[in-house]
Order: sequence, then structure tokens, then C-alpha cells
Amino acid sequence: MLNSPLSPSSTELVISILDMVLSEGKPLDRAYSVHFSGLQLIPSEQARITKVVGDILRRLNLYCFLSDVKPEEISRLGSRLMNAWHLFHELELPKLQYSLPLAEAEYFARLEEAKLQPALWDGCPEWLDTMGQAQLGDAWAKERAALNAQPKRFIRTNILKCTREELAKKLRNEQVQTVEVDGVDTALEVVSDSALFRTESFKKGWFEQQDAGSQLVAAAVDAKPGMRVIDACAGAGGKTLSIAAQMKGKGRLLAMDVEQWKLDNLKQRARRANASNVETRIIASSKTIKRLKLSADRLLLDVPCSGLGVLKRNPDAKWRDTPDRLPVLVELQKHILQSYSRMVKVGGILIYATCSIMPEENRDQVDAFLAENEHFTFLEDETISVADSGFDGFYMARLERIAE
Ligand SMILES: C[S@@+](CC[C@H](N)C(=O)[O-])C[C@H]1O[C@@H](n2cnc3c(N)ncnc32)[C@H](O)[C@@H]1O
Repeated sequence: MLNSPLSPSSTELVISILDMVLSEGKPLDRAYSVHFSGLQLIPSEQARITKVVGDILRRLNLYCFLSDVKPEEISRLGSRLMNAWHLFHELELPKLQYSLPLAEAEYFARLEEAKLQPALWDGCPEWLDTMGQAQLGDAWAKERAALNAQPKRFIRTNILKCTREELAKKLRNEQVQTVEVDGVDTALEVVSDSALFRTESFKKGWFEQQDAGSQLVAAAVDAKPGMRVIDACAGAGGKTLSIAAQMKGKGRLLAMDVEQWKLDNLKQRARRANASNVETRIIASSKTIKRLKLSADRLLLDVPCSGLGVLKRNPDAKWRDTPDRLPVLVELQKHILQSYSRMVKVGGILIYATCSIMPEENRDQVDAFLAENEHFTFLEDETISVADSGFDGFYMARLERIAE
């Protein structure tokens, strides 16, 4: 993961960020912005810190076990956890001002014990391991292991402004190294630790940060210029902007959500991207949906989900979530699918998507919907496996409305 130890000050920063997430329950993004704003860290050191924090959160239970520290004890015993982390990665221990000793013999005894517990080794909480086993059976172990890998950084070329080759070249001139991603036309993987959002290419709207799997989901919408497309759970518009580019700015693209602040954010991003055919609309009540009855050539339902396919990118969620959330989400997904599908016109396509790899949120939902809605027919579906793709995990299904 790293080939040299963290400096004492970076180690202290890691402990403080972890403490904010684990003791105060703050989201990881917020903890980063609190800690990094005002500090003049060089981009590579900031990248090292985020890599270490990410790695620790992906296998928090393992590092806690090895150091015999509880997550809520990080502010007091964080240095012992950091020592265990350095030992695990075979790095020299940082010379901290206040360091609580870690008995190395005990560490190595615990290491041997941990190797015999695959879920602990993979940084998986017990409830998630039970759920994954129940839903995916034998396929779970490789997904569980893949979910603790460091996520790759992907960007999507904004083809409204440039080609992928032009973007790669421009970024190279800005000291950002990228490689093309096979099978995803618009995607580049960023392989250098560069401050992407400070580049001129970003400011000019030539790219957006977006996982390659998410780009594949957006591509499955297959929107054409001139169509009428609705992205009904658009959030801040990761996929909306991709769809706008497919439409080459022609036709109508309606981005909807129940949260206005996300749509406001989307509008800003659309302006930078030159996505001129995007319109936003808040879903205030069921009337908003009814008014759009039988109107869409394409409807993307990127529904709220457990997010279990994107845990390597959002590892703090593993330690905040509980299994009780899933049934609530499954009900909401069912409701959205049933009620929002009214917006698809005859001959139009509904794309149901999640960033989960659990069948209960995916194919099971689609099957239950089709059993009750004969005016839709199944075309195809795909689960993007975290283990097989190296991307985040997603599901997408394409259904066609064949009658009113
Ligand atoms: C998976 S996220 C969407 C991510 C987004 N499509 C993207 O690519 O960046 C799901 C979104 O659904 C929204 N949402 C939650 N309940 C909803 C509802 N009843 N109707 C529409 N959207 C809803 C959430 O606010 C959230 O933005």
C-alpha cells in the first residue's frame, strides 16, 4: 500500500480524521474537508493520508483486533492502532510523541488468529457477512475480498467538449497520468496522485469523476439525440451528465429528485459541462409523476439502495450501517419502480439500477415488478461484480413498455 512510513504529523492527522468519523459519526468527506482546509499539504501527502484512512476504514475490525483497540477508543489509543497498521504493512513504526506501546508478540499472535477468520481478514462486519452469504452464496467470498481493495480513480470524458484522447493528452500536460479503460468508451483511470480538481481540464468541464461501472450504467440508458429522457432519482447528476452527452445536447432530459440541494448541485455541474438540455424538477408529490404519464422514451430509475457495491469507496458506511436498513430500502425501491414506471411511453425503455450487488435489491425486485406488470417485458440485465470488474458494484436491468 505504501512503501515508506507516515510522518508523525501525518499519523496524527490520520488518527484525528478517524476519530471524527468513528467517535463523532461525521461522514468521511466532511472529516477530510475539516482537516485538509487551511493545511498546505502537498497533493501527494494528502493522497497518502486518504489512502491510509481508506485502508484502515475498509478493514477497521481487523486493525482494531490486531491492536486490541475499540473504534470508540481511537482518540485515546489511536497511536497503538497506527503502530499495528504499520506492522501489518511491514513499515517502520512512526516516532510519535505520545505513543502507547503495542506488545509485538501479542500482535503476531493475533495476526495468526485473524488469518483463520476470512470475514475479519477482509474487514467485513458480521451482519454484512451473514447477509452476503445468504444472498450470494458461494459468490460472496470473492466480492467480500474485493470490497476491501483500494478503489481506483476513474473519470468520464465529457464528449460534449473533447475526445478521450484529447483529454488524456491535456491532462498529461497538467502532470496527471491516465490510462484508457477497456470496454468503457468514455473512461480514463487516473494513475498518478494528482489534485484532479485543480486542473484546468476540470475547470473547463472536460471531465467528471465517475466510477467506470457507473459510466456503464449510464451507457445502458442508450439515449439518442432528440429523445425525451427522465432521470428520476438523479441526485447530483453523475449519470444525468453522462446521458446529456449521449444526447449531444438535443432533446429533453429531465432530472428529478426529492432533494432540492442535489438538483442545485446538478445544475451547476451541467453548466460547467455544457449540458444545455438538462432541466431539473423536484418531486414534491405523486402529482409530479402523474403529470409525466406515458411521456418518456427512456426512464432511468437509479434508486436509493444499500450502497453495498460501493463500499470500497465509502468504507465508513460499513461501520455505520445496520441490516435493518435493507428491508426499508427494498420497500422504497418497490414503490419507486411501481409508481414511476408510469412515466415510460409505449415502446420506451425503463432502466432500473442500483449500486448494490445484492439480488434482493436487484433481480428479485425486477422479477416481482414484472409479475405484477404485464405491460412491461424484460430485455436484459447485468450485475457488475466488484471482483470481476475492478470497478464499483452495480446492477442494471432494461425493461420495455409494450402496452399502456
Ligand atoms: C443512488 S442515488 C442517485 C445517484 C445519481 N443517479 C448519480 O448517478 O449520481 C439515489 C437518489 O434517489 C433520491 N431519492 C430518494 N428517494 C426518492 C424518491 N422517492 N423519488 C426520487 N428520488 C429519490 C436520493 O435523494 C438520491 O439522490
